[in-house]
Amino acid sequence: MANVIVVGTQWGDEGKGKVVDLYAENADVITRFQGGNNAGHTLVVKGVQTILHLIPSGILHDHKICVIGNGVVIDPQVLLEEIDKLNSRGLFPPNTRLYISEKAHLIMPYHRRIDLAREGRRGGGKIGTTGRGIGPAYEDKVARVGVRVGDLFDSDSFREKLMRNLEEKNFLLTKYFGEDSVDAEAVFVEYLGYGERLKPYATDTAVILNRELRRGRKILFEGAQGCHLDIDHGTYPYVTSSNTVAANAFSGTGVGPSATFAVVGICKAYTTRVGGGPFVTELSCEIGRRIQDVGKEFGATTGRKRRCGWLDMVLVRHAIMVSGITGIALTKLDVLTGIEKLKICIGYRTAQGEMINDAVPANLQVLSNCEPIYEEIDGWTEDISQARRIEELPKNVRKYLERIETLADTPLALVSVGAARNETIIMKNPFTS
Ligand code: GDP
Ligand code: IMO
Ligand code: MG
Repeated sequence: MANVIVVGTQWGDEGKGKVVDLYAENADVITRFQGGNNAGHTLVVKGVQTILHLIPSGILHDHKICVIGNGVVIDPQVLLEEIDKLNSRGLFPPNTRLYISEKAHLIMPYHRRIDLAREGRRGGGKIGTTGRGIGPAYEDKVARVGVRVGDLFDSDSFREKLMRNLEEKNFLLTKYFGEDSVDAEAVFVEYLGYGERLKPYATDTAVILNRELRRGRKILFEGAQGCHLDIDHGTYPYVTSSNTVAANAFSGTGVGPSATFAVVGICKAYTTRVGGGPFVTELSCEIGRRIQDVGKEFGATTGRKRRCGWLDMVLVRHAIMVSGITGIALTKLDVLTGIEKLKICIGYRTAQGEMINDAVPANLQVLSNCEPIYEEIDGWTEDISQARRIEELPKNVRKYLERIETLADTPLALVSVGAARNETIIMKNPFTS
């Protein structure tokens, strides 16, 4: 396939950053299409770790075009810090260009304040957001009152939009949440400054992407979050505020679906979740703690402990269905080494005794009362982190992989056995097969 869309199949943090960095070698253009700096994508190259929140994970490669598409919500302060940090570490290759959609919406200080204030009020029903203002920024986009990157280049119209917004936001913050108001003039000056620095990167990125497509260049679309955090297809309301499924690669960039695409679903060899919401295979026992510890399961954005559990194939099958996934990249397999008996959830039993195995129930009440149906598989004790070919893996590991392939009814495209770029077994190159 000429182009590849990478999406998460679970609740995020599946290792998308690592896989996108690896696949970027074969791509000409790497683009984000949704989410914002709620994402934390970790790359490990030559022993050096880089965590990216907004810049596409192809940035470490020479001679690439990296794009932040119109579907992304941008906190300009975070983006500029990310650019500065890469530059100061000498990691921003001079031959690689970064473009930002002038249509992408901005995260404003009042979005962060409202996000945090709302979460503070929710008590037990907290979503557990990243507090980065993602939800309120997408709300304003849909309400047609958002401020876009391009607005920063016209100070009069920016001032007008900001003032109109602040009238409403400050009412909400002071009268409803009982908090301090946001200072309009300070935000105006701060954001005009960001605008000046962002101007060289801002353009109509859909034009660039479509021009590159016509030239026969390969585009790699980098999803953020995961299928079950999708605003439509996820465990609503415990989701993020954008569509995380593969289809949003199109509207989030302005590329049409008639080009050829492979869709690679990133799947951790177990399941994790940060924040609230149902989690059928969650482990509160020693094995859960062990996975959390060995897998270093702490959020790359907020540092929160990730909840851990067994691999849930109901989640994965559902993700394969709604994103049209053509290949699976299985990550963090090495973390399971040394666990005597592994479990894979092959279905759910509802409180009424009904069996479910291909889609997560939409009703959270039903989902919260589902019991996992497990299949037990023998584990392995051998160190697998040095394996680079499937034949080098111990028999029990291969059995585990075969079982996943069968249950997913989708071939494996790669298996990741360590955080580093090279700690990978590649079965298929999605750009060519
Ligand atoms: P993303 O949000 O999907 O990009 O994933 P994150 O970067 O938030 O979390 C994945 C974590 O697992 C990061 O710390 C990666 O460096 C690490 N990682 C990725 N693949 C592997 C792997 O195969 N084995 C191990 N042990 N760690 C991995
Ligand atoms: P990457 O791209 C894991 C979760 C938050 C919370 C919910 C809503 O690194 O996989 P938000 O701030 O988006 O309104 O929070 O979504 N969440 C993520 N969890 N990985 C992510 O991104 C996430 N982005 C958001 O923890 O439960
Ligand atoms: Mg992450």
